[in-house]
Amino acid sequence: MELEDAIRTRRTHKAFGPEPIEPAVLDELFELARWAPNHHLTNPWRFRVIGARTRGRLKLLADAAKPGSAAKLDRAPTLVLASACLTGEPQQDREDVLASAVAAYIILLAAHARGLAGYWRTLGLLEQPPARALLGVDRHERVLGLLHIGHPRQSQRVPQRAPLNEIVTYLD
Ligand SMILES: Cc1cc2nc3c(=O)[nH]c(=O)nc-3n(C[C@H](O)[C@H](O)[C@H](O)COP(=O)(O)O)c2cc1C
Repeated sequence: MELEDAIRTRRTHKAFGPEPIEPAVLDELFELARWAPNHHLTNPWRFRVIGARTRGRLKLLADAAKPGSAAKLDRAPTLVLASACLTGEPQQDREDVLASAVAAYIILLAAHARGLAGYWRTLGLLEQPPARALLGVDRHERVLGLLHIGHPRQSQRVPQRAPLNEIVTYLD
């Protein structure tokens, strides 16, 4: 798939087929994510593939925090926690969060280029100490969200984007 087509046609999917993504394919996505731009080459991005046992425990935490919310954690066959590993130095941390977000986007884009579907979900639960402890998130890490990856089950509507004249200014 051409790069520009991939950028335009990647969509957020919330319904997936049941087949999990092979670790070899996930590793291709993680390998590509490492090529995100990164000031001082700190390699701040971290990815955790959530296995069945961890997903089950996360669902228990989700339901304890908000009854009925666990079901959403079953939407995708493969869940990847994306985070940024920080140093505590404010400027570097800002840059490292941004770089890690770019890396997360590369994962979604590369998944799409392989015919897979993706969904970046942020959820408050992942900020809570029990979930962080379960997932082994260090106190220096910033959680970016759960990347859902799977096989698409339906096509998605195309959300509008703002026109260029709303988002671009050429300064003299
Ligand atoms: C950082 C980030 C967090 C997101 N979190 C959520 C979320 O918690 N729930 C949700 O429904 N969509 C979430 N999304 C997906 C956006 O809603 C989606 O990208 C947007 O609707 C545009 O659709 P598209 O991805 O198909 O272009 C998130 C996207 C990003 C980049």
